[in-house]
Amino acid sequence: NQLTHVTLTNYSKSEESRELIQKALLENDFMKHLEVSQILTIMDCMYPTTLAQGCCVIQEGDDGSTVYVLEEGLVEVTKGGQKLCTIEPGKVFGELAILYNCTRTATVTALTDIKLWAIDRQGFQTIMMRTGLLKHSNY
Ligand code: CMP
Repeated sequence: NQLTHVTLTNYSKSEESRELIQKALLENDFMKHLEVSQILTIMDCMYPTTLAQGCCVIQEGDDGSTVYVLEEGLVEVTKGGQKLCTIEPGKVFGELAILYNCTRTATVTALTDIKLWAIDRQGFQTIMMRTGLLKHSNY
C-alpha cells in the first residue's frame, strides 16, 4: 500500500506546545480513543501555521484535508450562516471531514489573528495505518 511509503516529518515544538496539542487530542471525543503512540506521533507531525483575523480557515461543504489544533486566538464555527460556537486555544477542529471522509460540516473563521498546528490527511492516515499494520504483524 502507498501509505506505507509515506515519510512522516517531525516538527520541533516547545514543551508548552507539546502539552497543549496532547491535551487537545486527548480531550477530543473522536481522537481520545486513539492509542497513546498515535497521539504522540500526530503531535510530532503537526506543523505550525498562522492566519490573520477574518480569514476563513474551513469552508462548509469543501473537501477537507487538514486537522487543526488552535494554539492562540479564537475561531468561530458557523453552519448555514448560523453561529454554532466559539473555539478557544487547546481545542481540535476540522477532524470530522478526515475521520468520516465527508465534506466540511461547518465554516470556521478566525475571530483574531490565530496560530494553529495542522496535520494533513496523508500524514494522519499514515499514522492510523502504520499502527494498524504493526498490530497486525503481532499475530
Ligand atoms: P469538519 O467538518 O472537518 O470541519 C468543520 C469543523 O467544525 C468540524 O470538522 C468540527 O471540528 C467543527 N464543528 C462542526 N460542528 C460543530 C459544532 N456543532 N460545535 C463545535 N464544532 C463543530
